[in-house]
Amino acid sequence: PRCIWLTRHAESEDQLSGILGSHRGELTKNGRNYCRELSAFLRKCRREMEEAGQVETSGDILVLMGTAPVHYSTLQSMMIKGSSPSLSSDMNGEMTPGGAVHCKGFQAMSTSLLNELDGGVCNGLSYAEIQNDYPDLWAARDRDKLNFRYPNGESYKDVIGRLRPIIIELERQRRSILVISHLAVQRCLYAYFTGTPMEEIPFLEMDMHTVAELRPGAFDCEVRQVKLWE
Ligand code: F6P
Repeated sequence: PRCIWLTRHAESEDQLSGILGSHRGELTKNGRNYCRELSAFLRKCRREMEEAGQVETSGDILVLMGTAPVHYSTLQSMMIKGSSPSLSSDMNGEMTPGGAVHCKGFQAMSTSLLNELDGGVCNGLSYAEIQNDYPDLWAARDRDKLNFRYPNGESYKDVIGRLRPIIIELERQRRSILVISHLAVQRCLYAYFTGTPMEEIPFLEMDMHTVAELRPGAFDCEVRQVKLWE
């Protein structure tokens, strides 16, 4: 049966400084190591699918991701020559937002639907700065994290709404899919497939450098957490 793999993008330098909506693309050393492990993990899964004769019927693995530079960095770092020959062979490093890349065994596509919950006026700030500069917003979010919408930004409910086309695509596809997104987006996708109540979504743990492997069935969804790097 096909898999849906959910992962957050690899750790970035911006993320380490704790700011919201970090969209630049420099990965940390741990982030680059994760990309190498993720690439090896996918190639192993693809090999197993080939051995089981599933590739003929289900086709290439689809990689879906957002349009932030950190997504391209994650994908490109997965394709570094030597670390992933099967991916790098047809890949010349050209990626544009909304573009698709096809390489042996994999097809990658990006869409802004998978970008992180928009922090609006708080983008670029840390939690400590928000608490200090916007105490009313901080308190309102604390009271109702699910419905709280950042001014000029989004709420969890907004993100759930915008992910509908992605969910339809994930339900429709017969091939295995890796989704590279962010914390809030991954919480929403994970909750949909596992039937987690909506109120719990903003508080779900989604570890870094870990793949949530989902196998949706007719009545339930098998879940396996695969920690690939620290
Ligand atoms: O890891 C940082 C981040 O993805 C932010 O960009 C985002 O605002 C946040 O996590 C979402 O988590 P929470 O809703 O718990 O603040």
